[in-house]
Amino acid sequence: MSQLLTQPFDLILFGGTGDLSLRKLLPSMYRTFLEDGIPKGSRIMVGTRKVHEFEGMHSIIKKAFSKFIPEEDLSDSNYEKFCLFIKPVLIDVAKRDDRWAEFSSLFVKRKKQPRIFYLAIIPSVYGDCCDNLAASHLITENTRLVVEKPIGYDQQSAESINQKIAEYFKEDQIYRIDHYLGKETVQNLLALRFSNSLFEQFWDAKSIDHIQISICEQVGLEGRAGFYDSTGAMRDMVQNHLLQLLALIAMESPNKMDANNIRAEKIKVLQALKPINEEDVNQFTVRGQYVAGAIDEQLQPGYLEELGSGTSNTETFVAIRASIDNWRWAKVPFYIRTGKRLKKRSAEIAIQFSDVSHNAFGEESGKLIPNRLIIQLQPEERIQLILMAKDMTQLKTVLKPVTLDLNFTESSQGFKSFGYKRLLLDAICGNASLFIHREEGTAAWQWVDPIIEYWDKHHVTPFLYRAGTYGPKESDELLEKDGRQWIDIDDCAS
Ligand code: BG6
Repeated sequence: MSQLLTQPFDLILFGGTGDLSLRKLLPSMYRTFLEDGIPKGSRIMVGTRKVHEFEGMHSIIKKAFSKFIPEEDLSDSNYEKFCLFIKPVLIDVAKRDDRWAEFSSLFVKRKKQPRIFYLAIIPSVYGDCCDNLAASHLITENTRLVVEKPIGYDQQSAESINQKIAEYFKEDQIYRIDHYLGKETVQNLLALRFSNSLFEQFWDAKSIDHIQISICEQVGLEGRAGFYDSTGAMRDMVQNHLLQLLALIAMESPNKMDANNIRAEKIKVLQALKPINEEDVNQFTVRGQYVAGAIDEQLQPGYLEELGSGTSNTETFVAIRASIDNWRWAKVPFYIRTGKRLKKRSAEIAIQFSDVSHNAFGEESGKLIPNRLIIQLQPEERIQLILMAKDMTQLKTVLKPVTLDLNFTESSQGFKSFGYKRLLLDAICGNASLFIHREEGTAAWQWVDPIIEYWDKHHVTPFLYRAGTYGPKESDELLEKDGRQWIDIDDCAS
């Protein structure tokens, strides 16, 4: 039995036949089932408003599983047993009709069980859905609402969604999900920072030269053209995943590792982000869009071709030089970047420490590379510390970088972590520490909104970059202006 779930629950997936549910949520629950982690008497309700999907639900789920779950983990008999927990539900979340009465009758004797409504639906119908849940008396003390990022399109729309939800749910019942926070190494970041005195001594502007956070993707639109073209990398990735990583890196130590304390510290960081005003946008931000190119020797189409449109100003790449206006981080640049169709898939944080104040070895012993702490979230989960050491193969003193390497992928003995699974289980058992508080979202929008507004107002066209590269050359120039460069993690290991 999973150590997390002990009592039966009701998980209701609205938008249950959508991409997110079939690709991530249901497979997460299946994996939990395989670990004997779903308590008897639990129900996973999969909602759809389409009659043919309702009737063919089991074959839809089975087909998706054969695509998204490795063959060795999937067997007919396990699938059949898992299906005993699944209950298809025919419901239109946005419409007030008779089906709601039928739906609510399913909960008559289940008031005490944790009830988790997961809104895997478009944010514009969150409000109607909450109205219907409330009118059907489905919100109990034990009810939680899970909502997906990005919430809204800008600060204003996010506020109105949050306000609507708050009419029916208390803040501690609302679980705003950012699946990056479910990644094991992200949680390890907290362990690394706050359970080792070693790092805490050097975690500030006195010792750190700058910090880089990169989330590089090889994938393109993945069939989400409509959503992506009206969203772009800034709203899809920077407003949430990248700023969350930045907040975890930069925050002060929470008094306790619980939801309120962790979130309070992250909010302070996000609120301290130095605004990038109109006159600074061109200097501190780079937006890009990919054109055709090869990734791993496979030719990939350009963004416009994938989109099937002759023109679009949407960015598929963003790089930003961010600063945090507080005592700890004054003058330390945080370079953040993300993009689609880049050379490799990786998510990494690189902390570059300052140069030694004096090179007593002299030029003849080789160039001193500053110490770096590299935290890799994917494809591998590892933490590396790059130090300078003597080259043991030479008699004279020649210095070279060496790497202390903690590879969690290798050392976890086959334990596989899945961000969504972790977060789903946390939501079911009421642990909100890895979810986002309303004010975090607000502060993040406050910082990204003026940049997006400037791009829109001035019709800033994205710089083009070839698929299979690391983005437009202007992204490199952003760091070169400061005498720095993006760190290629593969070059770090010696
Ligand atoms: C999602 C974005 O939040 O994160 C996608 O909407 C992106 O566009 C995805 O591809 C990346 O997640 P991961 O875990 O694959 O790095």
